[in-house]
Amino acid sequence: MKQHVAPFGDGTVVLRLVEERDLETILAWRNRDDARVWFKSSDKIAFDAHLAWYERYRQKEDDFFFLVEANGQPVGQCGIYDIDNGSAEVGRFLVAPEMAGKGYIGRSCAEIVRFGTQFLKLPYLFLEVMEKNTKAIRLYTRQGFVEEARSGGLIRMGLGRDRAL
Ligand SMILES: CC(C)(COP(=O)(O)OP(=O)(O)OC[C@H]1O[C@@H](n2cnc3c(N)ncnc32)[C@H](O)[C@@H]1OP(=O)(O)O)[C@@H](O)C(=O)NCCC(=O)NCCS
Repeated sequence: MKQHVAPFGDGTVVLRLVEERDLETILAWRNRDDARVWFKSSDKIAFDAHLAWYERYRQKEDDFFFLVEANGQPVGQCGIYDIDNGSAEVGRFLVAPEMAGKGYIGRSCAEIVRFGTQFLKLPYLFLEVMEKNTKAIRLYTRQGFVEEARSGGLIRMGLGRDRAL
């Protein structure tokens, strides 16, 4: 069973675990043409497949998927997954289109880093981003991630590797 995580945040954004009632909202964000192209599996996802993915996610203990809220409204999403004793991947960053450029996802990234390092006590976090996704790369760089490797159009960025070694 997945560990329950109480909502947390910085006073502007609140990250709470995604629930079934959020699935339509987040699928609509994910399926937008200008969003899905930035994910490794970039095809449009049908609701049934999304629901099946969510059911599998619910059984996982090493995966936390958050809805981001500001002023009580859903503004985006992010996640931390493949968590083991020393590391985890962060990702699934996505903003609600009408909420873009307000700093909510930068704040969410800072919060998920705090969750990973302070709550889960992980010494090392990493992510993958397409090398053409300059907006996302700028955001991750501002949060302290640094490029570690690049291949096939993807950049791997890490945070805290020196402490992991
Ligand atoms: C990448 C993505 C999540 C960023 O979301 P966002 O809402 O633009 O993120 P933020 O608002 O936190 O930060 C982005 C910009 O807003 C600016 N900003 C931050 N706080 C701000 C504020 N209070 N007021 C105005 N602008 C602000 C930042 O300086 C930044 O500017 P820049 O892009 O010129 O560097 C969004 O573009 C998205 O959903 N893209 C599609 C999916 C995707 O690429 N996901 C990442 C896959 S690896």
